[in-house]
Amino acid sequence: METTEKKKRVLSMVQPTGTFTIGNYFGALKNFAALQDEYECVYAMADLHAITVRQEPKQLRENVYKSYALTLACGIDLDKSILFLQSQVPEHSQLAWILNCYTQFGELSRMTQFKDKSAKHADNINAGLFTYPCLMAADILLYQADYVPIGADQKQHLELTRNIAERFNGVYSPTFTVPDGIIPKNGARVMSLADPTKKMSKSDDNVNSFITLLDPRDTIIKKFKRAVTDSEACVRFAEGKDGINNLMGIYSAATGKTMEEIEAEFAGKGYGDFKVAVGETVADVLAPIQEKFAELYADKKYLEKCFAENAEKAHYIARKTVSKVMRKIGYINL
Ligand code: TYM
Repeated sequence: METTEKKKRVLSMVQPTGTFTIGNYFGALKNFAALQDEYECVYAMADLHAITVRQEPKQLRENVYKSYALTLACGIDLDKSILFLQSQVPEHSQLAWILNCYTQFGELSRMTQFKDKSAKHADNINAGLFTYPCLMAADILLYQADYVPIGADQKQHLELTRNIAERFNGVYSPTFTVPDGIIPKNGARVMSLADPTKKMSKSDDNVNSFITLLDPRDTIIKKFKRAVTDSEACVRFAEGKDGINNLMGIYSAATGKTMEEIEAEFAGKGYGDFKVAVGETVADVLAPIQEKFAELYADKKYLEKCFAENAEKAHYIARKTVSKVMRKIGYINL
């Protein structure tokens, strides 16, 4: 007997920063493509989230095209998955407002990303920065997602999303699917090459601290060669060896090798050899993505067609959830 079991749904988003770091890639984007066969996947550019920090309009527009093309180049197949722009589906803002009213000030105050970002942008601690996790909860809950592929830094936001969903379901009746995270074993927390106690981030002032998906091959190798390590000169995974642990994590995420296999491969070799191997391997992983990106980014008409078609598909799903939520709350929703 044939069973037609409904596929579970996956939802995730990235901020359209123009190009992404290998942290974004190994932490999340790589999984976006890998999950497409088993799940019904919905992905988006979080361009509403982007304005929690000041954006130059022309640059933001360009970054959205670029990020969309780059996400597609990471392997999203639009015959299988949806990839849309968050700002083109108004239900995100609509549900975010509603969820604001089911989230406590104290919960939002505890978000470490809010604390970090408000320290970094002390001149613009806007309300959006504070309530950002409610918008992220709306992103996820609108699509009734079962799973959310993310890096470790988004775990706290996902936990809050689960709490908001459970709270709403408890006040009314089951309305939202309570989602689980999909966090990769390796690559969930790629650290800065200049300071391996800090997360790798594109907003870092030191360009040598991060690798972007569009860095040329020789830049990638050069940046890895400069990566901060330690003076032991032995490739092994151990406490206190943050720099080497990070490079091993990246190499592992890129090759699928375990830490033991990496230690064996580089036994008796110095950090110089290891760094070049990591650089070359990462450059090899990125080469086909860069090639595909160049092709897609050159065709803005095609990208615009994708924006429109995918926003419509996302809107169809999101609308149903908002309608259900409005009914539960008691709004008149004819
Ligand atoms: P964003 O745009 O900062 O990052 C996108 C994804 O990349 C992961 N990531 C990392 N993973 C490993 N190591 C790193 N150094 C690293 N840096 C970033 C992030 O964990 C994330 O998975 N709020 C989100 C975007 C968002 C979202 C959502 C995600 C908006 N709505 C709904 C999931 C579901 C953010 O700012 O990610």
